[in-house]
Amino acid sequence: MTGARAAVEGTSTEERHRISTPASTIGPWLPEGELGNALAEGLAGVEAELTAAVGSEHPFVREAAGHLMAAGGKRFRPMLALLSAQLGDARAPQVTRAAVVCELTHLATLYHDDVMDEAAVRRGAPSANSRWSNSIAILTGDLLFARASNLLADLGPEAVRIQAQTFERLVTGQIRETVGPQPGADPVTHHLGVLADKTGSLVATSARFGASFAGVDESLVAALTAFGEEVGVAFQISDDLLDILSEGGASGKLPGTDLREGIATLPALFVLADDDPADARLRELVSAPVTDDADHAEALALLRASNGLARAAEVLGQYADRARARLDGVPPGEVRDALSALCDYVVTRTS
Ligand code: IPE
Ligand code: IPE
Ligand code: MG
Ligand code: MG
Repeated sequence: MTGARAAVEGTSTEERHRISTPASTIGPWLPEGELGNALAEGLAGVEAELTAAVGSEHPFVREAAGHLMAAGGKRFRPMLALLSAQLGDARAPQVTRAAVVCELTHLATLYHDDVMDEAAVRRGAPSANSRWSNSIAILTGDLLFARASNLLADLGPEAVRIQAQTFERLVTGQIRETVGPQPGADPVTHHLGVLADKTGSLVATSARFGASFAGVDESLVAALTAFGEEVGVAFQISDDLLDILSEGGASGKLPGTDLREGIATLPALFVLADDDPADARLRELVSAPVTDDADHAEALALLRASNGLARAAEVLGQYADRARARLDGVPPGEVRDALSALCDYVVTRTS
């Protein structure tokens, strides 16, 4: 994190302390040995480029743009790009750049998403909107998109187009989540489509970029892209389960944010779709934003014990299985094993 510290030079002692203790790590699914070392080396390169990409000659801009990057995060998307690249020439310089573009895009969407969700905490730190204001968070997100575009230009027009299409899907997912399903549409089908768009799209592109810039064969790139899409949806479902299940600061976010914002994730959608009389109170609570603290605690407790939660966990398992099945076309070996371990991780993760 040395580079990240430099990026936010001029911040308070408290801020520096927080930066030196990142909110989360990249995950226990990572391999050890030679492959682990190669990934660690790749990630160090990503961190260096990311640090440069969030810098600015203006002290406040530097602080705002470096804020979430320095706070930690799992670096899931760059890790997947680097791991996919291991099936080809992982040292190709464009691989690092592509991984950085994916994380920068993700970072920018986090600044914006926290405005949309009125979230107070992100990566164990105050969100940019709560620390400064919605305007600062929105503009800083825009700045990071601009930085991502600048780096993308070096990767050529095809990469620019793929990124544009990915970003369009991501934003469309966020819009569709905000407005909800059309009258008559099945809410669960709508929701799963939203997750594929808002999260699966960028995770898929991370795998795709990593593999294609490493010179991996087209058919293998396609398999890894499909893998990323499925594992990305699984990752989002498990994130939504953690919002309900996690007790403390393990996720680096405030649990129960979805309920407070009135965002019905998969467990709540299953409860709402069912007319089980035992869930009548829970249905009443989750059909609107739950702002009262006592109602919120009651809704969380009921949801944790609900059949809807168990059914959502089943769907998570199905997406993880589907992702694993996409690995059939990947040559047996350490990389395939690590990608398979990633499928286990998204099902079992607790942060
Ligand atoms: C958060 O993404 C938003 C989701 C798609 C669930 P991450 O869980 O990858 O967030 P960081 O990067 O680790 O903070
Ligand atoms: C985040 O979705 C997805 C994107 C940023 C595109 P959520 O709103 O569900 O994620 P968290 O819980 O804030 O990380
Ligand atoms: Mg959110
Ligand atoms: Mg959101």
